[in-house]
Amino acid sequence: TSNRLRHVESMAIFPSGAGKIPALNAVILGEALASEEDDLVFPSDEFSQQALVPSPQKYLEIYKRSVEDPAGFWSDIASEFYWKKKWGDKVYDDNFDVRKGAIKIEWFKGGITNICYNCLDRNVEAGLGDKVAMYWEGNELNVDGKLTYSELLQKVCQLANYLKDIGVKKGDAVIVYLPMLMELPMTMLACARIGAVHSVVFAGFSAESLAQRIVDCKPKVVITCNAVNRGSKVIYLKDIVDTALVESAKNGVSVDVCLTYENKSAMSRENTKWQEGRDIWWQDVVPNYPSTCAVEWVDAEDPLFLLYTSGSTGKPKGVLHTTGGYMVYTATTFKYAFDYKSSDIYWCTADCGWITGHSYVTYGPMLNGASVLVFEGAPNYPDSGRCWDIVDKYKVTIFYTAPTLVRSLMRESEEYVKKYSRKSLRVLGSVGEPINPSAWRWFYNVVGDSRCPISDTWWQTETGGFLITPLPGAWPQKPGSATFPFFGVQPVIVDEKGDEIEGECSGYLCIKGSWPGAFRTLYGDHERYETTYFKPFAGYYFSGDGCSRDKDGYHWLTGRVDDVINVSGHRIGTAEVESALVSHPKCAEAAVVGVEHEVKGQGIYAFVTLVEGEPYSEELRKSLILTVRKQIGAFAAPDKIHWAPGLPKTRSGKIMRRILRKIAARQLDELGDTSTLADPSVVEQLIALGEDS
Ligand code: WTA
Repeated sequence: TSNRLRHVESMAIFPSGAGKIPALNAVILGEALASEEDDLVFPSDEFSQQALVPSPQKYLEIYKRSVEDPAGFWSDIASEFYWKKKWGDKVYDDNFDVRKGAIKIEWFKGGITNICYNCLDRNVEAGLGDKVAMYWEGNELNVDGKLTYSELLQKVCQLANYLKDIGVKKGDAVIVYLPMLMELPMTMLACARIGAVHSVVFAGFSAESLAQRIVDCKPKVVITCNAVNRGSKVIYLKDIVDTALVESAKNGVSVDVCLTYENKSAMSRENTKWQEGRDIWWQDVVPNYPSTCAVEWVDAEDPLFLLYTSGSTGKPKGVLHTTGGYMVYTATTFKYAFDYKSSDIYWCTADCGWITGHSYVTYGPMLNGASVLVFEGAPNYPDSGRCWDIVDKYKVTIFYTAPTLVRSLMRESEEYVKKYSRKSLRVLGSVGEPINPSAWRWFYNVVGDSRCPISDTWWQTETGGFLITPLPGAWPQKPGSATFPFFGVQPVIVDEKGDEIEGECSGYLCIKGSWPGAFRTLYGDHERYETTYFKPFAGYYFSGDGCSRDKDGYHWLTGRVDDVINVSGHRIGTAEVESALVSHPKCAEAAVVGVEHEVKGQGIYAFVTLVEGEPYSEELRKSLILTVRKQIGAFAAPDKIHWAPGLPKTRSGKIMRRILRKIAARQLDELGDTSTLADPSVVEQLIALGEDS
């Protein structure tokens, strides 16, 4: 076996320099590997035979072309979309190297198109008008809805006409603070239709976070709804928006219009607080507008949306995506990573408030003319079988979710799963954090009845779409590995010095060369864009993730290497939580680290130093957590507050987080060298206090 492997590995399938993943060649001889690796999961022949990419050889063939001739590869795909005018001579133009000047990424520049047109009009014209674009499942059982592609187009046009009428123009920002109603993707598409830049804020963010984003992008209008049911709770979104608008006005940004959808199942309009002149009921105005609306044709490089995400320092960053490259990239990744067929019913459990909901609830699927399910509720309401109930009800074929959901359902009785048939399922997907092998196996064996390949898609808000992902049916999987790069993507693993390391290794995950879906800048701060992503390892895009590559060339993501933590797949900057904590009048100092959490992946662990003389109390603990909930949102609430008389600092005053991480994880024999601390006794005090705080 090993001879054979060596033989295969030495085959020069790849020309030198271009996307070397030689070990993948070994996969062609799956049997050779299988005898060595118990951990290999093969797709069935039946699946592979019908798959878009049926074999490793086919993948290699396509991949090879994509990295040798990116311009030819991507322009062929782009030509399948509608362009009012084709792009200029250059398919792409990029500079990824800070040493050579400003970072620049452009794809299809000069090409004139519109992504809403490509999602809707183009599909209607192709005969999909009567196909369901969106199924909607409400929070409560038996509350549902649907829209065909023609109906969705009409509704989008009405909203687009309304927005134009109130003065929203090409390039204007629109803040969207909506739950998972059909109106959310509809709003995104309406903005895109008129060239406005949507910025969706996850409806779990607090008023203060929302205000911060309003102040940053100065929207003409905020679009929300009065309230939403989530599980057994009602969340009053309009109240949160009201507070945010007061707050942003104080900071010099006042918003003229707050368009509010009346979500009757959660709250009637009579009970909704109202500011005459500013607040408008969606249902009172939008349906009165014509159901056709001319498209605003935009350049491929005109902005499509802004999405704020957390970094390791300071305030959230506005990640900016443009139109053409993002369109081509999300459509293509969706199609291949889920082996999409026109008969599929696709359900992604992500909220449109995050990038997954942008690329893989709205744009990617609709560009393919897919039927998408949008779910308003919670996966454990009324009980833990809800997801499978929905799968059976709509005959869902592709189910895409996050490891945290898998882990939480895994803790419940299997009966909740077995009760339902799930026969329609054919592809499963995972996103947001590394999926641990045991969760992978449960997802595969129990949910998918050992029949459905799992696409463990690795990507980021910044990348627009999948960068490393299995293509179902193409190759054997290893539970917990995101496998191989998508077409056109060249991942490299570098060491501390920024040197590429090859073969079996681990280090920092970077990407060489641009791909169409990459973000183009951080809104209003190109310098921070360069500093954060392109300066750490000159010549590459730095992902912020650690990664190892095994002897067969499979990629294993190991989590963030910066001060970002990933809680239930939600990205949270430790700095943001710290700044919320220190805003509490009784908090003198705070340091936040991530700690392993059985369901959430990572939990938030906060070390808090109180102001002089303040006693620890349960009440104070609660009030600190409440402060974080109010400033960021409930999902960022610390799991643990650890009282800290002092924090371990170097003599220059830098907090040594490495030590805090070890204390939080109770790995006390791995504290390492503490002699460089200004006051080494702090560590013992912390350990002593940890036990009962
Ligand atoms: C993590 C979400 C391992 C990673 C799409 C990344 C993953 C961050 C995976 C981005 C995966 C996402 N395996 N880790 N399949 N997918 N991540 O911007 O740490 O919310 O840097 O985008 O999530 O989070 P973001």
